[in-house]
Amino acid sequence: MHKIKNVLIGITGSIAAFKIPELVRLFKKEKFNVKIIQTKSSLDFVSPLTLSVLSENKVLSSTITYEKTWNNHVSLSNWADIFIIAPLTANTLAKMANGQCDNLLLATYLSTKCKTYVAPAMDLDMFQHHTTKTNLLTIEKHGIKVIPAKFGELASGLIGDGRMAEPQEIFNITINKSNPKLKGKNVLITAGPTYENIDPVRFIGNRSSGKMGIEIAKICSDFGAKVNLILGPIAKQFEYDNVTIHKIESAKQMYDTAISLYSDSDILIFSAAVSDYSPEKTNELKLKKKDDFLNIKLKRTKDIILEISKRKNKDQFIVGFALETDNAIKNAKLKLHNKKLDMIILNSLEDKGAGFQKDTNKISIIDKNNNITKYKLKNKSEVAKDIIDNIIKLKYA
Ligand SMILES: Cc1cc2nc3c(=O)[nH]c(=O)nc-3n(C[C@H](O)[C@H](O)[C@H](O)COP(=O)(O)O)c2cc1C
Repeated sequence: MHKIKNVLIGITGSIAAFKIPELVRLFKKEKFNVKIIQTKSSLDFVSPLTLSVLSENKVLSSTITYEKTWNNHVSLSNWADIFIIAPLTANTLAKMANGQCDNLLLATYLSTKCKTYVAPAMDLDMFQHHTTKTNLLTIEKHGIKVIPAKFGELASGLIGDGRMAEPQEIFNITINKSNPKLKGKNVLITAGPTYENIDPVRFIGNRSSGKMGIEIAKICSDFGAKVNLILGPIAKQFEYDNVTIHKIESAKQMYDTAISLYSDSDILIFSAAVSDYSPEKTNELKLKKKDDFLNIKLKRTKDIILEISKRKNKDQFIVGFALETDNAIKNAKLKLHNKKLDMIILNSLEDKGAGFQKDTNKISIIDKNNNITKYKLKNKSEVAKDIIDNIIKLKYA
């Protein structure tokens, strides 16, 4: 159960305000009560009608109502268990940093005692401006949690820092961080593909993007865990609070790193797509095109999960992944028992939208008592939350 029930969302005048209906939907789906305050300028960016329908509450935007009554900012701030200001403009940020109070949102902010989060959204130059930087530091110093803006395409067409965090990330950070169920726990995660070199140019690899493991790492961190993420070669840069990234290329490097880290880990989640075979020898020079056929002798790589499950102690919880093309449940159960796992996550290539390089996944969770829970297609962040909730339920509830 969440300790938080009442979520107050403040919206200011940035293009990113159009994403807030999605944030409201995420909270309502999980049965939170949501109330919304909009600044005057934000009314041009997102409709209060949409927000009031989704939140099932009247949206407030001024201290004094049309009928000359008071929208009581003090009772609003007492009602809230958390206050999220998203998007946060440079203008409202500056006022927050200086205690200005010329609208309902700011009056409420000055009265709140609950945890407050802000998700800045600005164009590149505004975000880089020294006043913005100073103001962010000032509010952080006073205990406001800043959900970092991201690098990406901005409304102006420029590319850079200043893009508001996505609603799902805001939801995960605000809710999971307030309920650190994995505080004090160490989690080891493997993610991404491995590359087995044939020569300096060519390799044997696979299509894994690492997205699933990365989302799991984020949720574990949001829940208060310290995470070691052993990450195969992927195109995207990734960094996150309390996640130490160990970059590797080959199955051997992944094995060696996992062996060096496993003993300090409470939960071990093996989501990487590790190559089962590797060339027996790597040519030092690029192989030349010669005959019609080229034979490359492959040898088995070490089975990381099997080796670690042989060595694990009784308090460690091991989760494997199975990606199957046929007889999915039967093969996944076999892997679960042969490798003495506590849980296996099955994703099947037979399911549309599931598997490599997609932003969505459709999984079934099978635990060591053969209980099977099937989930519908969800985005990988939601899937990661389902997996971690299941681990917590089985291991720590
Ligand atoms: C199309 C448009 C987009 C804007 N986007 C942003 C933005 O992303 N971030 C920001 O700080 N200001 C942005 N502004 C400027 C703010 O709307 C302006 O500073 C306003 O006074 C903010 O008021 P508020 O903080 O009370 O909501 C934008 C303005 C326009 C017209």
